[in-house]
Amino acid sequence: MNNPTTKKTVLVTGGSRGIGAAISLELGNSNFNVVVNYNRNNEEANKIVNKIISNGGNAIAIQSNIANKNECEGLFDKIIKHFGPVDILINNAGITRDKSFRKMQLSEWSEVIDTNLSSVFNTCQLAIPHMIEQKYGRIINISSVIGQTGGFGQTNYAAAKAGLIGFSKSLALETAKHGVTVNCICPGFINTEMVAEMPIQVLDGIKAKIPAAKLGETEDIANGVSYLIKATYMTGQCLNINGGLYM
Ligand SMILES: NC(=O)c1ccc[n+]([C@@H]2O[C@H](COP(=O)([O-])OP(=O)(O)OC[C@H]3O[C@@H](n4cnc5c(N)ncnc54)[C@H](OP(=O)(O)O)[C@@H]3O)[C@@H](O)[C@H]2O)c1
Repeated sequence: MNNPTTKKTVLVTGGSRGIGAAISLELGNSNFNVVVNYNRNNEEANKIVNKIISNGGNAIAIQSNIANKNECEGLFDKIIKHFGPVDILINNAGITRDKSFRKMQLSEWSEVIDTNLSSVFNTCQLAIPHMIEQKYGRIINISSVIGQTGGFGQTNYAAAKAGLIGFSKSLALETAKHGVTVNCICPGFINTEMVAEMPIQVLDGIKAKIPAAKLGETEDIANGVSYLIKATYMTGQCLNINGGLYM
């Protein structure tokens, strides 16, 4: 294990599976202390942490439902005790509860807004004071192409993902002079369990519309995250990684 005190600390919400797992692994191999946050599946989170540690990196798994403000506070307390404050925040955790608007229940609306959007309010509020004080910080919010184009049966998800874009631009305005950048990544359709849950005919229809003629891989998004961490003069932007689906 390398000396954790000389490394920057990154929190990846939902860092245990899918896109988040690829981001955790990429950053674990790139000399960061990685906090792999998860909600339910501690086996998957431990798998990612063990992979990072066996490659010589530093990582810890911490359970926390980031939709809950009190649990977020607990998460940040644990991180500070283990690695010190968060320097880089990757807001990646997200869920879908797809349903046509006329059938959508308030609970399905709220669950998606709380998990995909209000969670980012929670984590940013806890991360920003330290970032401003040290005059360095990176916040990367994983939005979606659906926040740009809309999606059938996804009024809740599209509202949350479009909300993240407006949130990021506004926070970028407030923090740019303090050395803190805030950007979004808008993935297209990426090969993860979230996409595997879609009916096969729907997925085939989507693939037919992607100019690159295939789904993206989780590593494509992790590469975008690495770039945005290095980028010092880029803030308030959306990095579209979507195989040309939306230009
Ligand atoms: N896959 C795509 O094609 C695609 C496209 C555009 C955008 N995105 C966005 O990319 C992000 C990752 O998507 P994915 O496909 O990798 O999802 P995924 O495979 O379903 O993984 C979701 C991750 O989020 C965690 N999570 C869910 N709810 C949470 C909560 N309340 N608190 C903390 N962690 C929570 C899960 O942890 P547990 O397993 O422990 O519950 C898991 O680690 C999401 O924001 C998604 O909207 C995905």
